[in-house]
Amino acid sequence: MKEKQLDLSRRPRRYRASRQIRSLLTETQLTISDLICPLFIQEKKGKEEIGSMPGIFRYSLENLLEVCSELREKGINAVALFPCVPKEKKDDSGSLALDPEGLIPKAVSAIKKNIPELLVITDVALDPYTTHGHDGLWNEQLGDVDNDATVEILTKMAVMLGKMGADFVAPSDMMDGRVGQIRKALDSEGLTKTGILAYSAKFASAFYGPFREAVGSARKRGYYLDKMTYQLNPSNRREACLEALLDEKEGADILMVKPAGPYLDIIYQIRQNTLLPVAAYQVSGEYSAIVAAGLNGWLDPKKAAIESLVAIKRAGADIILTYFAQSLAKDPSFNL
Ligand code: PBG
Repeated sequence: MKEKQLDLSRRPRRYRASRQIRSLLTETQLTISDLICPLFIQEKKGKEEIGSMPGIFRYSLENLLEVCSELREKGINAVALFPCVPKEKKDDSGSLALDPEGLIPKAVSAIKKNIPELLVITDVALDPYTTHGHDGLWNEQLGDVDNDATVEILTKMAVMLGKMGADFVAPSDMMDGRVGQIRKALDSEGLTKTGILAYSAKFASAFYGPFREAVGSARKRGYYLDKMTYQLNPSNRREACLEALLDEKEGADILMVKPAGPYLDIIYQIRQNTLLPVAAYQVSGEYSAIVAAGLNGWLDPKKAAIESLVAIKRAGADIILTYFAQSLAKDPSFNL
């Protein structure tokens, strides 16, 4: 015994003594194949960087195909598409959402024609298309979004996107009963291969701010909309679990939690309560917070990005939507 040697039966630091032992004992492995890359599409030619999301661009249709084939080559399995619609094309009922000639349907069919092995996920909600920026139909008398009328439109939107070749439709609106109605409608059109990735536990979060700039959502007195009558109260865990279990019953294929980092307990609890795959969406504000701190030299953004994603996977997510997907896929030094 050395002088000053404690008499310890366990020394857990032995687990961490070298890179090799740490590598052997790694419990959570993050890989590029776990990540889904969200992509923004614009009508304008070329690409445009999003001010509130440094490193993230809106792409024209032509650019989109290039980006998608590179992502596929680098091991990304799926992309999630979001449109940026010019203000003058929006209306109160978001009618452009049902137009098969719209930006998203065109993008879906172009990707499936040119890169058929890349999975395409499309959002089902009206917010990129409505002047008021809500995910559904605003009823002035109710002073609220009209649930059942909205579900009727979203169901049509999902069927249209399924017909264009979307592999998954992803209702992100949080209306009651939409998953069941969409499943029924897809099946009655013979679209049995189209899956539903349900935004099941979607919270009313301030972390969506940069996304709303990206898709050009309406602001009121400088602030983005409050969606508290349909998105979940950030303080409610049981209610989030209830929403996820309802979506499972209604026929969802994958249950999603959103945002991800501030809601790891929700991911964990849903993981404990279902056998379905669980996805998590690391949203725009989570991305931009890390990137902005990195730009200020306050932290190492690569390390922070990977740590945040490992934490999301460790909590129980099988799949992660993240704006870091593109840079991680392209950078061999990331060594996930
Ligand atoms: C629209 C939608 C939103 C996001 C994905 N789909 C915004 C919202 O609900 O206000 C946010 C994604 C992000 O912040 O990265 N229903």
